[in-house]
Amino acid sequence: MNLTRDEEKLLSGEGGEGAQKAMEIIASIGDINDAPRLIPVERVQISGVSYKTIGDAGLEFLQDMAALGAKTSVYSTLNPAGIDLEQENSDAPPRFVEKQGEILRAYELLGATPSCTCTPYLAGNKPGFGEHIAFAESSAVAYANSALGARTNRESAITALASAITGKTPLYGLHLDENRMPTLTVNVAENVESVNDYSALGYYIGKHFDAIPYFKGIQPGVEGLKALSAGLATGKVSMFHIDGVTPNTVGDVSSLETFEYTGAERKTVTEDLNTCDDPDILCIGCPHCTLAEIKQVIDANPKKEVWVYTSRAVQKQLGEKIKNPNIRLISDTCMVVQPLEEMGIGSLGTNSTKCAYYTRNLSGLDVKFDNMENLLKK
Ligand code: F3S
Repeated sequence: MNLTRDEEKLLSGEGGEGAQKAMEIIASIGDINDAPRLIPVERVQISGVSYKTIGDAGLEFLQDMAALGAKTSVYSTLNPAGIDLEQENSDAPPRFVEKQGEILRAYELLGATPSCTCTPYLAGNKPGFGEHIAFAESSAVAYANSALGARTNRESAITALASAITGKTPLYGLHLDENRMPTLTVNVAENVESVNDYSALGYYIGKHFDAIPYFKGIQPGVEGLKALSAGLATGKVSMFHIDGVTPNTVGDVSSLETFEYTGAERKTVTEDLNTCDDPDILCIGCPHCTLAEIKQVIDANPKKEVWVYTSRAVQKQLGEKIKNPNIRLISDTCMVVQPLEEMGIGSLGTNSTKCAYYTRNLSGLDVKFDNMENLLKK
């Protein structure tokens, strides 16, 4: 791979040991993927923030990088942490809270912005059409590539951090025009309207196809696009197109393999994910809620306890105080990266396939997967 003089300097340690390590990571990823060169990125989304997902090894790596003097050189935001940073009495175990604090201090030293959300595009880190970026949160990768027309591979926590420090990413994969074209047409014959419907559609396609789907027959708004992105990214899909909705070029789709998504496929998703009927709590906001989704929960006036997850930025836009004591508005974290299983929660209801999949497989919880209206009226 060809490196510029400035990149060579970082690699030889002229920018300090931390930057050298970051450049070594980026250069080796470029070599492995036959990238001809590096390209600049001006914004990054870093995953690997919760103590639950990175543990002591991840914390040590971050502290080592900070001790080596590594600093972000471009605007870099963080994925959800394991606790709400402004709720003084977190239900998480004290050791977890302490370790989480150490992780955030390390990221602060590294210069990352502690936005702690998986919807950076709703919270001030929104890339433009054609912009090259390095995002690690898989749902935000699919959303940025597809709904916004930005260009990013699905980065890992480590490669995103290395891009944040160097301001570079290797030129390969979804940064290139030829790898962004649709490879499968999905005719949506089933009625897909609610967030839960979009989430199920994404989950089904992401689970069964390693492809760039071109959807026909759906018209999602922001909430639907967000749910579809997260569902697809729970599987292998990092980019999609929607006829008449998404901004990227699709070329000639007439010879693509076509798949028909019907009520039968939809049914398998519900059967696949449901393990209980009467969950302990409801969790809405995977990915983090928009303002409209929060208002939908408030308007439903739920009788069951609902934990509503959103970004701090969106929470600040909510000009009203929530009167219903059953609604708990939570920022900086999510139900998957919180240690729910250590907080007395055994089961949850959700309208998100990603939440259902990971809380079952990562936290061992039972799950009720349904649409928001049904969940909230119980
Ligand atoms: Fe976001 Fe957590 Fe879901 S990071 S996409 S709310 S699993």
